[in-house]
Amino acid sequence: MTESHHDVLIIGGGAAGLALALEIADHRPVTLLQPSPDARGASRWAQGGIAAVLAPSDDVEAHVADTLVAGDGLCDEAAVRFTVDQGPAAIEWLLSLGVPFTPDPDPNAGYPYHLTQEGGHGARRIIHADDATGRAVIETLESHVGAHPDIRLRHDLSAIELIADTAGHCRGARCLDEAGNLHALMARDTVLATGGASGLYRHTTSPHPASGEGMMMAAELGAELMNLEFQQFHPTCLYDPEGAPFLISEAVRGEGGYLLGGDGQRFMPDIDPRAELAPRDIVARAIDGEMQRSGMDHVWLDIRHLGEEAIRHHFPTIHAHCASRGLDIARSPIPVVPAAHYSCGGVSTDLTGATTVPRLYAIGEVACTGLHGANRMASNSLLECLAFARGCARRLAEETAESGALLVERTPGTRPVSRELIAELREAMRGVMSAKVAIVRHDAGLDEAAGTLAGLSERLAPHLAEAAPDADAASLWHALRLARLTVACARARRESRGLHHNPDCPLHADATPTPSRIHLNALQTP
Ligand code: SIN
Repeated sequence: MTESHHDVLIIGGGAAGLALALEIADHRPVTLLQPSPDARGASRWAQGGIAAVLAPSDDVEAHVADTLVAGDGLCDEAAVRFTVDQGPAAIEWLLSLGVPFTPDPDPNAGYPYHLTQEGGHGARRIIHADDATGRAVIETLESHVGAHPDIRLRHDLSAIELIADTAGHCRGARCLDEAGNLHALMARDTVLATGGASGLYRHTTSPHPASGEGMMMAAELGAELMNLEFQQFHPTCLYDPEGAPFLISEAVRGEGGYLLGGDGQRFMPDIDPRAELAPRDIVARAIDGEMQRSGMDHVWLDIRHLGEEAIRHHFPTIHAHCASRGLDIARSPIPVVPAAHYSCGGVSTDLTGATTVPRLYAIGEVACTGLHGANRMASNSLLECLAFARGCARRLAEETAESGALLVERTPGTRPVSRELIAELREAMRGVMSAKVAIVRHDAGLDEAAGTLAGLSERLAPHLAEAAPDADAASLWHALRLARLTVACARARRESRGLHHNPDCPLHADATPTPSRIHLNALQTP
């Protein structure tokens, strides 16, 4: 194993990791792990945009209030205010870096860039770059990161485990290169920006979702995890059984798209006065219910009434992708289905991204800051990446060096783990999570999932004991244990709230709801 020494080590090169690298690199040198082009996190796939108070008619209190309502009583108001307050400055920063946000052609609009609307927002406050905002933000940040003399980018390394010292502080990460060689990257401060856990499910909005690897690496060092039961399903992923996952942005509903059931009629107005623009938990659950009622594999999203020119103008990426799949969305409604999209839970942190483990930070989707509560409001997550990257950078700029003795590490084995076994166990995990721990869950299903997942872990554990270091096996092991903790959180919440809907439990039973907090030792078996 090779050993190298770093100052700030950032694991993950999505919006949060890239933004932090740029914010801290003028103060401290950074090593940024951004494994392979395909695995560059969910940020790249975000279509809709970034929520911020930008229009003169909007105000911070309104954005805060909308976020608290969408979060269904479980948001941490301090985290909400911290994030929302930073919205305008975060957008100014992105503009100064050159992000090509879409201008508003109306000179009387009051703000030079076009603002769209999405579910839960009571105002137009989503700034966007056409319908490919994530890509525009990531490419701009990457160009600046690539040019910074004090940011060292490593595309060849994947972190599989964090390193602790005898004082229980994080001291870096053990990583694997593409040839399977182990590298110990020792660091003064380590930041996880590894994304969420949608990969625990079979159908996702991102083609390469994370499976909670960063959350479990932190938990293995003793970090507290929070709110794992609140997994968000985006209401409208393109229903395309033969194709790659593809999101149909909530902005399509924001600009006037209607959801139609099997009978061709709108169903949302009967369910919520905000209709198609209700928060995501409500819309996804309504679609799930409509699919069960009609027996169809999807519902329809109809945007034809906007006219071809407006559709091509507002949604060029969606129009082109659907056309490439043989669907003209100016002439036909779009078949859509909910898919796993965003993990509201994660590693619990304060407003600087600090976890409960000293010298370990978490930002972006891997973290649970309290902003999203029981249900994230659309387009708040890219804003959270930027706000917490800045908060974390301020904290890191003040940290001083310290070190304890390193823990003695286990000598890795030499046996390969069978690819077939990894694929089989991962598919089984995704199957049970999708069937029993998805939009609607019941006590009996959760109990069954707990048993099945424990059985899958038991099958993998003996292979790992003698295994050669293996990124896929490590990822599966992390995913299985995170899935089990997710089920434990879901089973322990005795109410239905936000994204956690259990018909065996009453709605909002807890008048002063508390977040779920859990540690790895909640698992009875490895
Ligand atoms: C979307 O465009 O609908 C996704 C944006 C988000 O999840 O915040």
